[in-house]
Amino acid sequence: MCGIVGYLGNKEAYPILIKGLHRLEYRGYDSAGVALVNSSSDLKVYKTKGKVADLESYTKGKDVSGTIGIAHTRWATHGEPNNVNAHPHYSQSESLALIHNGIIENYAVIKEDLIKRGYKFQSDTDTEVLVQLIEYIKNTNKIGLCQAVQLALTQAVGAYAIAVIEKGNPNQIIAARKSSPLVIGIGDDEFFLASDATPIIEYTNRVIYLDDEEVAIIRRGEEVHIKTLANVEKTHEVKELELSLNELEKGGFPHFMLKEIYEQPKRIAEAMRGRINVEANSVALAGVIDNKEKFLNARRILIVACGTSWHAGLIGEYLLEEFARIPVEVEYASEFRYRNPIINKGDIVIAISQSGETADTLAAIELARNAGAFVYGICNVVGSSIPRNTDSGSYTHVGPEIGVASTKAFTAQVTVLSLIALTIAHLKGTIEPDRYQELIKELASIPAKMIRTLEVNAQIKDFASIFTYAKNFIYLGRGYNYPVALEGALKLKEISYIHAEGYPAAEMKHGPIALIDAEMPVVVIAPNKGMYEKTISNIQEVKARKGRVISIITEGDETVKKLSDYTIEIPETEECFVPLLASIPLQLMAYHIAVVKGCNVDQPRNLAKSVTVE
Ligand code: F6R
Repeated sequence: MCGIVGYLGNKEAYPILIKGLHRLEYRGYDSAGVALVNSSSDLKVYKTKGKVADLESYTKGKDVSGTIGIAHTRWATHGEPNNVNAHPHYSQSESLALIHNGIIENYAVIKEDLIKRGYKFQSDTDTEVLVQLIEYIKNTNKIGLCQAVQLALTQAVGAYAIAVIEKGNPNQIIAARKSSPLVIGIGDDEFFLASDATPIIEYTNRVIYLDDEEVAIIRRGEEVHIKTLANVEKTHEVKELELSLNELEKGGFPHFMLKEIYEQPKRIAEAMRGRINVEANSVALAGVIDNKEKFLNARRILIVACGTSWHAGLIGEYLLEEFARIPVEVEYASEFRYRNPIINKGDIVIAISQSGETADTLAAIELARNAGAFVYGICNVVGSSIPRNTDSGSYTHVGPEIGVASTKAFTAQVTVLSLIALTIAHLKGTIEPDRYQELIKELASIPAKMIRTLEVNAQIKDFASIFTYAKNFIYLGRGYNYPVALEGALKLKEISYIHAEGYPAAEMKHGPIALIDAEMPVVVIAPNKGMYEKTISNIQEVKARKGRVISIITEGDETVKKLSDYTIEIPETEECFVPLLASIPLQLMAYHIAVVKGCNVDQPRNLAKSVTVE
């Protein structure tokens, strides 16, 4: 939610900032802006409603010179997306410019106080309050910018990653963070800052991750200084990024989402690499093995997550209960954090997140840790806040996911949950050795089966246009495929704007069946496993009401084929691994319907990839 980027060095800042904004555009695309200090030490701000491309058009022919600058791409929280509310925000005297990712919760109180002191506000944002407060403190106390930022932030309640530059000083950026991500890149005589490493990797792989309530003083010709808000000096290890540049390109695909769907076989294999050994018949997940006693003695596992990651958590519940025989509860992080949950000694909390920055999930982790729980993270983005705030965990290793709709991260989360369940089951002896071996072998074969599953793309592309008429969709699944139905429905609604609901198939007759008529497409995940016969009965119920059935079936299943209007075949696999294959046609269906409808697949309206506000 909102992307921030900054540069200080010997090169022209503007092209670096624009490129950085393009990389961060997945975080929000309501408006974009840039602030630069040029060689005459003038501070210029250019900003506009719309995307980074709109900012580029807006700045054509304008003076965008300068070797220091900050830039922002916005996901609106306070104030509608318009030119005035776009960042950077000037202070009253226009001597400071500030960008911000996060929310200042007590902005109204501060604003009222500043208005009484004669400050005038241009925008409806919480951010403008911060820059005005910094200026007020700086001028009244006659102190430098860094100290003014430190003092201002001690008054701010909420979340922030900010960067500030000032007129007359082309040699300094002050940046700070609390509960919103901020990475500083260290090059040769140049510095970068950004919400994540993607704008930085092109120039340097040496980075520092700031911690909460820390301020970075980035000055030309000096080392980066880091201090707390209370002015205590901090030293940070410089970390090496493992990201590669071509992971950030579309690689010949029309959209990142399609590229990421197609990457799944390779990425899932990577998620299993070094963790599964078919020859030795073993699964070994370091995070679990290292904390063996905790997992062996766990009385209960609580899974906290949001959105797609929550759907993966539901599949985790089925896996962990079936194989590891540990009771599991899956919670929306946003509910968990505010409902005074009971967390017992011996509970393990698993937090799942692609970005590692989701505000609600981070708050749920904090709550769980304060209550004494052991917290395990399943996360994709290396070095993000969640892995840094959990006791242990596993990365999903799927590389950057740039399409806003999560695809490969979901299947990788399910893969890691499968590995966790199998590792614990083996350690606890809750699985028969033969069954354990069968499942390991089958899990290892999933990447190859995913390649075969992707062959349905052409078929789905063909029939996608038929369903663009639909205003509603229903998705049905049972057991392991109930969360797959939820995830399929979420994918469709977020990128095609078609309303869709996922249900456990048997729940349909308790209400949703009233919606079914000849216009209603009903997607049924109906593999020849689990409650196959019962799912067939549910399909019959839909057909009896003239619903249009699109079923995901096991290769060669003629029975369900005959009952369905459209069928998509996936390779046969174990019931517990069907979600890894069945999700792929659902991702492709949402993708093709959205493309035919002319929707912006990678940047759907109102959404942002990294939800750093609650
Ligand atoms: C949907 C989607 C979101 C995220 C959710 C949690 O396609 O991407 O629902 O799953 O915002 O994000 P993470 O996993 O980054 O915590």
